[in-house]
Amino acid sequence: MSSIGVFDSGFGGLTVLKELQKILPNYNFTYLGDNARAPYGEKSFETVNEYTRQAIDWLFDHNCPLVILACNTASAVALRNIQQLYLHQNYDEHFRVLGVVRPTTEIIGNFSKSGVIGLLGTVATVSSNSYAIEIAKFYPHIKLKQLACPLWVPMIEHGIYNSPASQSVIKENVDQLVKMNPEMDVILLACTHYPIVADIIKAHVGPAIQVLSQGEIIAKSLLNYLQKHSDLNKLLDTDGNTEIYTSADDVELFKQKAKLFFEPIGKVKQAKPWIKK
Ligand code: DGL
Repeated sequence: MSSIGVFDSGFGGLTVLKELQKILPNYNFTYLGDNARAPYGEKSFETVNEYTRQAIDWLFDHNCPLVILACNTASAVALRNIQQLYLHQNYDEHFRVLGVVRPTTEIIGNFSKSGVIGLLGTVATVSSNSYAIEIAKFYPHIKLKQLACPLWVPMIEHGIYNSPASQSVIKENVDQLVKMNPEMDVILLACTHYPIVADIIKAHVGPAIQVLSQGEIIAKSLLNYLQKHSDLNKLLDTDGNTEIYTSADDVELFKQKAKLFFEPIGKVKQAKPWIKK
């Protein structure tokens, strides 16, 4: 059974998987979360590159000729190198990897009237500057202001994002971002975990600022891509099945925590052996 592989450092990509299933209900998906080694957001570029390559190898080996890097950190840090070098050196042209930066930056300019967009993401995503580089190609007039929010992923993963302390961290970070340029009328949530706190941000900033999550953007872009790439499309089976794998040791704990991101979670398998020999 041939599937679309969906990779994330952990749980966050499940927010993207949910949207992929809505827009591409007939396709098969194999989700892989590298929970054993997450978070990626504060790891070095070398480490994120290496872990992402290992995940891609694993998904290719598990009958996924197309892999979506749902993880912003992996997409922003590793995708360019993987597309330009790693795939050519190791795989034939039937194996493809797509990320989340390009589909988002292609259309993001359409959401902003003021031309000022804010981005919230992990330390690695922000310091890669990948969003700024890509946005400049499509919308040279757009000013992008970026802020890393290293506390958000742990707060969300530990289920404490709604506590008064967490809410004040979230609001303070959002205020810091908006202060960088008060003309900002769009905030992009450039991390797969952040849609979980989108309502808190929306309530805080009010209607003048649009808060954008990426899931639907990625899913629509993938639909479009598959319509244009019939060679790849015909390699993908359409039984409407989804399999979820995690590198975590404790699958039951994964299932409990995953409910916040995706329901019903169903069966989850352990992704072992992990590293290709
Ligand atoms: N999934 C990652 C992202 O979208 C965030 C979590 C992490 O730091 O591993 O950037």
